[in-house]
Amino acid sequence: MSESHIYPVPKALAANAHIDKERYEAMYQQSVEQPEAFWTVKAHEFLNWDKSFTKVREFDFNQGEAKWFEDGVLNVTTNCIDRHLADRADEPAIIWEGDNPYDSKTITYRNLHEHVCKLANALKARGVKKGDRVCIYMPMIVEAAYAMLACARIGAIHSVVFGGFSPDALKDRILDSDCQVLITADEGVRGGKAIPLKYNADRALEHCPNVHTCLVVKRTGGAIDWEDKRDIWYHVAVPAADEHCDPEPMAAEDPLFILYTSGSTGKPKGVMHTTGGYLLHAAMTHKYTFDYQPGEVYWCTADVGWVTGHSYIVYGPLANGAITLMFEGVPTYPDAGRFWDVVDKHRVNSFYTAPTAIRALMGAGDEFVKRSNRSSLRLLGTVGEPINPEAWEWYHRVVGEGRCPIVDTWWQTETGGHMLTPLPGATELKPGSATLPFFGVEPVLLDAEGKEMEGPGEGSLAIKSSWPGQIRSVYGDHQRCIDTYYSTYPGYYFTGDGARRDEDGYYWITGRVDDVLNVSGHRMGTAEIESALGLHSQVAEAAVVGYPHDIKGQGIYCYVTLMDGEAPSDELKKELVAMCNQEIGPIAKPDLIQWAPGLPKTRSGKIMRRILRKVAANELENLGDTSTLADPSVVDELIDNRLNK
Ligand code: WT7
Repeated sequence: MSESHIYPVPKALAANAHIDKERYEAMYQQSVEQPEAFWTVKAHEFLNWDKSFTKVREFDFNQGEAKWFEDGVLNVTTNCIDRHLADRADEPAIIWEGDNPYDSKTITYRNLHEHVCKLANALKARGVKKGDRVCIYMPMIVEAAYAMLACARIGAIHSVVFGGFSPDALKDRILDSDCQVLITADEGVRGGKAIPLKYNADRALEHCPNVHTCLVVKRTGGAIDWEDKRDIWYHVAVPAADEHCDPEPMAAEDPLFILYTSGSTGKPKGVMHTTGGYLLHAAMTHKYTFDYQPGEVYWCTADVGWVTGHSYIVYGPLANGAITLMFEGVPTYPDAGRFWDVVDKHRVNSFYTAPTAIRALMGAGDEFVKRSNRSSLRLLGTVGEPINPEAWEWYHRVVGEGRCPIVDTWWQTETGGHMLTPLPGATELKPGSATLPFFGVEPVLLDAEGKEMEGPGEGSLAIKSSWPGQIRSVYGDHQRCIDTYYSTYPGYYFTGDGARRDEDGYYWITGRVDDVLNVSGHRMGTAEIESALGLHSQVAEAAVVGYPHDIKGQGIYCYVTLMDGEAPSDELKKELVAMCNQEIGPIAKPDLIQWAPGLPKTRSGKIMRRILRKVAANELENLGDTSTLADPSVVDELIDNRLNK
């Protein structure tokens, strides 16, 4: 990759930025050399504590343990709402833009306070108390943010499940963390189409006897079924509730939320985040990475069902008293110019989206961008997957008119917030690189023997010491947390990503090194898709790999072996796609299904995925050693019938 293209920090921006190059270097150094001093100051600068802490951090990566500000006490909503009422009560907190371009509204901090307190009281009235789990299965409406914050107000732990997940996927998540309350809507609306959330919830709840309350927001008024004992309307229960609700005092290490994410094996894991460290990391990265200035309109296009929505639509911006824009729709409705129309409509200053959206809009043509003026934009960001330099350049040149720095932020559900990222006033940019570590983050590259590499090179990306926003556990299964993140390289947190470091110390993420796919920024385990396919009675075995896809980043490539005597057909392919839809959701739709009479296996029966990945990618030159296969001839058969030529 050419590194001749280096984009300097715009001088005018650096002059007024929170962090310039010198400050970055000095602060970074302090953050890793004197973490206690550094974080003590930042924890007080960014957060209000009901009771200050005396301990800063304690961690033991061999046990997968991390504790931050352990004896401190605070409440997330005091920090995200109440403390802003003194001077910003009538300033916007959330600007909501509906799927329909004529639909939008502004929620002030005062409004937010009232909505959250009322909902918190409505939850209390249904018996919800500190430590209880509440599942949130919502479209991108303001009530989704209220629901998260209402839980935080009373110390309940929320588990947001993305509205695109199927009833089965929702059921698994509700049961795994024993949520007893579900908050949902009658229907969601995206791209002019209704999404049957309550219908899906009803299917899921058939298998969840412990859920005693389902609180339903009326979004569309579409027809739904109703279970009198369990279901209550939001618009009946919430407005009637008291608008005063004392914030629950929370220990810094009390859980704030659970968020399910996929790994290389088994069912999705409930990543657990806690209160103090997480909020500090979210707030601090939001302020510095986006160089957020008071009064600016900031827009992150993620869904609240993903960690990006948690940290960068809700918690980070609101902790900073920012104006956060929440968008219900999709980038291409009514047409491919929607994002830029919204930027003009609300005079958006910072815009944060995913590479897959950028690539799709780049394909739609520049005229959709150019009909807007975008003069309010100061900064652009990306997240979720590696951005190819071509898409980066287009985003920079066409969307940002060469004026706006791009922050390419690398992080994960497990990290809570940004880990590698440019800071706009400090970091020279190289298209395709997530550049340098955020404060307090100590990345390392490990070689095949697990040794730390020095200088330029490529290896497995791991983190050497604890940072405030990190995962605390896997809900209900701490051993799984240790096994997944801390056992591959003892003493380190292993990210699952590979990376290259160049001569300037810049990091270039090369993608996952485990069996995890990233399809349009959605993370999925190949094992999950394989087990969905395996549920079909005609399937003997399935192996799933990713392959390069122009828009989605990765596509889903399935090799399917049928039971003896079963014949392949297009009908059967449709049934397999439906199976994935049912078990996981539309995001798990296979792109290509190849009938495979045999799969390449070692003599001990292990599938050689390396070969399957190469065939799917149509990279046939370098298949590697196939002599250890039980039956090397299956490879020729797979190559002859490959679908991605
Ligand atoms: C995986 C984490 C972080 C919030 C959204 C996804 C990939 C994420 C980047 C980036 C290259 C990236 C990694 C990571 N990823 N950001 N800027 N450049 N890759 O969160 O679902 O937990 O997925 O997304 O592979 O491990 P997630």
